[in-house]
Amino acid sequence: MRFETIKYMEWAKIHQVLQPVTYDLSNSAMAPPVPADIGVTAEDASWEGANHYGHPELKDLIARRWGVKPEMVIPAGGSSLANFLFAGALLQTGDAAAIEQPYYEPLGRILEALEAKVHFVPRRREDAFQPDVEAARKAFEKGAKLLILTDLYNPGGVHLDRERLKAIGEAAAKHGAKVLVDEVYLDALWEARPPIAATLGPQFLSTNSLTKVYGLGNLRAGWGIGDPALVHRAYRVYDYLSVLNSMPTDRVAIRAHKNLDRLIARARERRDANFPLIERWVASRKDVDWLPPKYGFISWLRLKSKATSHTVQDLLRKKYDAQVSPGHFFGCPDHVRIGCGLAKEKLEEGLKRLGKALDELG
Ligand SMILES: Cc1ncc(COP(=O)(O)O)c(C=O)c1O
Repeated sequence: MRFETIKYMEWAKIHQVLQPVTYDLSNSAMAPPVPADIGVTAEDASWEGANHYGHPELKDLIARRWGVKPEMVIPAGGSSLANFLFAGALLQTGDAAAIEQPYYEPLGRILEALEAKVHFVPRRREDAFQPDVEAARKAFEKGAKLLILTDLYNPGGVHLDRERLKAIGEAAAKHGAKVLVDEVYLDALWEARPPIAATLGPQFLSTNSLTKVYGLGNLRAGWGIGDPALVHRAYRVYDYLSVLNSMPTDRVAIRAHKNLDRLIARARERRDANFPLIERWVASRKDVDWLPPKYGFISWLRLKSKATSHTVQDLLRKKYDAQVSPGHFFGCPDHVRIGCGLAKEKLEEGLKRLGKALDELG
C-alpha cells in the first residue's frame, strides 16, 4: 500500500469548502437540499440497531430502485469508498488494472495505492469521449483484472455508449476481469437512464451515491453493486477501514432513498434552468469550445487562447472571487470544468467573471 496526496481532493476540500469563493463554478454536484425536504426527524440521530454487513432496509431500497438483489448491494460512505472496497477486494499488490484516461484523479490513485500496474483506456475528444474498446481489450489481454470507467464521464460529461460497454464487458468476461463503472452522475439521465452496468452481467460492478444528483455529499451515503461473491469480499475489506456505516447516516439515507423522485425533480429543474446559460455563454465565446453534454451538471471546456487552467484559476480567485475546476488535475491544462448545480444568479455572475478573466488572459 502506498498513499500519496490526491491533489484534486486536497484542492477541492481547501478551495471549495475551507477557503470558498462567492462564485464557485467548480462543483460537479447539485446544491444540497435541507433535511426537511426528505422528512428527517430527531429519531434519525439514533445509533441503535443493526447495520452490520449492510442495513437491510437500505439494501432493499437500493436493490429495488436499481433492479438488483439485496445481496448484490454494499452501502458505503460515498461512491469513493465503494470504489476502494471493490478495487481492494479484487487486486493484489502488483496486479494489472486499467482506467479511462483522462480520469478523475481519486480513481487512478486507488489503483496506485494498491500498487497495481496501470494500463490506460483513452477517451478521446475526436471519439466523443467514448472509451477505446481496443485499448480495453489489450489491457485485459495484458492481465488487467479491473477496468475503471465513469458514466457520465468525468470530466467529459458524456453518457457511456451501451454497445461499447457491452463489447468491453465481453472482453473482460473472456479474461475473468471486472469492469467497474462509477455511475455517480448517471441518474441525471432522468427517465432515460438505462439499466445500470451491474445488471449487464457478473463481470460488471456499479458504484453510486447520494452526492451528485441528489446533492447529499456531506451525508456520505454511497453504495456498490456487484455479484454477491465480490460484494461479500468487499464487506471484508470494509472491516479493515470503518467496520460499519454510521447508523444515523443510514437512517437519513433511508429517508432520502424514499424521496429520490422528489430530489430528482429538484435537480432536473435546476439543470433545465441553468444549462442554457452555459450554452449561451459558450456560444458567445471565440476562445472556448466543447462537446455539449446532453445530461448532467458538468461541462468540459477547451481553452483555445493562451489561457491555461492554472492561469484562469489563479486570476479568477485573486481578482474575481470565482473559480472553476482546473483541467490540470485531469492532466489537461488546456481545459476547465464547470458545473451548473449552483443557484442561477451565482452561475450567471460566475460566467460573466470567467469571461472577464479569459478576456484578460487571451
Ligand atoms: C467520478 C466520481 N466518483 C466519485 C466522486 C465522489 O463521490 P462520493 O461523494 O459519492 O464519494 C466524484 C466526485 O467528484 C466523482 O466525480
